[in-house]
Amino acid sequence: MNSNMMGGEDSEQSMGGMNQGGMGSMMNHGNVPSLASSEGSNELAIPPLLEKQQGQNYDYEVVAQQGTTEFFNGISTETYGYNGDLLGPTLTIEEGKKVDVKITNDLNETTTFHWHGLEVAGEIDGGPFDEIQPGESRIITLEADQPAATLWYHPHVHEMTAEQVYRGLSGMLLIDSSDKEDPAIPNEYGVNDIPLIFQDRLFDEDKQLNYNQLMNEDGTLGDVSIVNGTINPKLTVTEPIMRFRLLNGSNARNYTFSLSNGASFTQIASDGSLLDEPVEIQELTLAASERAEILIDFSKLTAEESLAIINDEDVELLPFDVKLDGATADSTEMWTTEEPFLSQEEKEMPVEKNIELFGMMDMVTINGKKFDADRIDLRQEQGVTEVWEVYNKKDMMGGMIHPFHIHGTQFKVISRDGKEVDPDEQGLKDSILVNPGEKVKILVTFPEKGVYVFHCHILEHEDNGMMGQIEIY
Ligand code: C2O
Ligand code: CU
Ligand code: CU
Repeated sequence: MNSNMMGGEDSEQSMGGMNQGGMGSMMNHGNVPSLASSEGSNELAIPPLLEKQQGQNYDYEVVAQQGTTEFFNGISTETYGYNGDLLGPTLTIEEGKKVDVKITNDLNETTTFHWHGLEVAGEIDGGPFDEIQPGESRIITLEADQPAATLWYHPHVHEMTAEQVYRGLSGMLLIDSSDKEDPAIPNEYGVNDIPLIFQDRLFDEDKQLNYNQLMNEDGTLGDVSIVNGTINPKLTVTEPIMRFRLLNGSNARNYTFSLSNGASFTQIASDGSLLDEPVEIQELTLAASERAEILIDFSKLTAEESLAIINDEDVELLPFDVKLDGATADSTEMWTTEEPFLSQEEKEMPVEKNIELFGMMDMVTINGKKFDADRIDLRQEQGVTEVWEVYNKKDMMGGMIHPFHIHGTQFKVISRDGKEVDPDEQGLKDSILVNPGEKVKILVTFPEKGVYVFHCHILEHEDNGMMGQIEIY
């Protein structure tokens, strides 16, 4: 595969154009390389559950380190990982519980440990200036004082986030309340409850993740799809109903997922909670950093039928090898709610904060400004709910999608361009896809105090200063 990969030369040329700005960079805007379909030759890696430490004064240890990964036969690619060579183990915290986590930086460069989606105090959020120097460790206490959800962790170093994530630093962070969950939701991790971290990567001609050579100021895109770090993955399925926790862990790429046979599937959760009600959908779009949990019913497949998760170019991202041995699905009655997602009062609250996303490449801004560590852009009182209106202002070229993310909060989406959002967005969120020209109203509450950042989750935009700071007092 990948004989026609965008190699070093092409990329260098387009980089030259981009650095000068002008037409070259603008042309680059809509130029999204297609992914290659999975050949299904490798069983999907499942990140191990992070194991509790025994006899230590902390519960878990997460170490950022360097390693190598054999993506291509016989070639070792230099990568970064947590407690391993690539990506990280899945950290699970029970809803309502606290855990002490020892974070260690074994890299040769500064990093931070950010808990994306976790509503923790600003001082342990792991934002851009919460630096852990090479060789340094710290013990922090994480509290999961929020509903069960699929969150994740990744570095957030000032101007280095994109590169460190690109090289492999990301892991899943699950808040678990399986004992309280609807019994129809599968929850056996690695068996019928599977995390799926979707990423795209561009390799140089030596099959290295040569970020400085390959990066794109508008968000680095690749033509190689990896899922949980596995190239050409397939997943063997032995249970009729499977729960998948999808994370768009790419630096910039947007994914629209569907099933290769056109069947519908059930979305049960958004970034930060279960949905108000499960919803049957046929496609699901996730911008960078967004998550969704879905259920796929494999029991309806005939023996000859094959199935894969595909993208909107019919590229097979994850083919399934279905081995049910006659197992059938129990009829699943899931929860419904009587209460509306938003109260009338919430819908009518006035807008308190305006966020304007604008620009591309390294000319990206929020409210006309680039990130300044010494400037607090916004303030909000702890526990007080406010309506933010996030506007993606078009540029001459029509603009681009910016996924807007806020630290320290899980918000509700009130409306898109004045229209109430579809049921698949009626759950808590921490990142929101904002289309060019669109205005999205969200309902934001910060349960803890501290200084947090909000930013575009195209990681190169974030590094280029499409980020601001809010102080919660
Ligand atoms: Cu995924 Cu500022 O974080
Ligand atoms: Cu975050
Ligand atoms: Cu952006």
